[in-house]
Amino acid sequence: MQVRKVDLDFSCAKIHWNPREPEYAQLLNGLSSGFPLLEPFLIKVVRQARALAPAHMQRDIELFVGQEARHDVQHAKFNKLLYEAGYDLQPVMNKLARSYERALEKRSLKFNLAYCDGFETFGPMLAYFFFEHAPELMAGWDEPTVYLWLWHLSEEFEHRAVCFELYQAIYGDTPSYLYRCGMMWYAMIQLFGYGLEAYKVIITKDRETMTLRDRLRSRLRFAKVFGRLLGYVGGHMVKWCMRRDYDPRKLATPRAVTWFLEDASRRYGVLDSA
Ligand SMILES: [Fe+2]
Ligand SMILES: [Fe+2]
Repeated sequence: MQVRKVDLDFSCAKIHWNPREPEYAQLLNGLSSGFPLLEPFLIKVVRQARALAPAHMQRDIELFVGQEARHDVQHAKFNKLLYEAGYDLQPVMNKLARSYERALEKRSLKFNLAYCDGFETFGPMLAYFFFEHAPELMAGWDEPTVYLWLWHLSEEFEHRAVCFELYQAIYGDTPSYLYRCGMMWYAMIQLFGYGLEAYKVIITKDRETMTLRDRLRSRLRFAKVFGRLLGYVGGHMVKWCMRRDYDPRKLATPRAVTWFLEDASRRYGVLDSA
């Protein structure tokens, strides 16, 4: 695992960075708007859990935190474009921020860590979707934004086992299996729920200038791509991640992930490494 000094220049980046699948891009933009809230939450929870983690996990936790902090900063830079374009995302972001504040105040560490593990389970499934199942959806993407997503998902794949191992090390495997699965779905529903709310804000503004026919086409395109994404990720979460013997360390690394990680290290340099 490495913390790469990825620093992207979004000064010429486009909001509509995927002309063939504008709704897919806007759904990802919606999710991106939540990452600067979600990733600091992951970091806070993992830092709390660190005190209870075994010695051999300490280094991985440090690197995990380093990677998530960089994701957060780069998504926040991209998200500025969304605010500047006038998408009123603040109300949905405030709602998400409050839910994380409440979780940190009122929920147990077990609940919060299982939530983080749930989110981290989703990351590699999304990486498979991007890299192996539907790479054609990325054709014609705008450079800095494609790099942002592919680098982020590659590092999500790289650190996929940290929260899982941490949860198992602290709470044990056998009695916590069902709780882990339940929290995985809770995290997935909350994340997609947020993504859809943010998407609605964005797409409603985009559709203001569309003709009735274009609006209809836009709805159809979204239904198709969202159904495909949900079917793939949700299906694999049932088929793989709910297995009693699920272990993210055993997931096969896509070749494109290895390529991206090496490219990001070479292009931007490495801050910290295991
Ligand atoms: Fe991340
Ligand atoms: Fe992550």
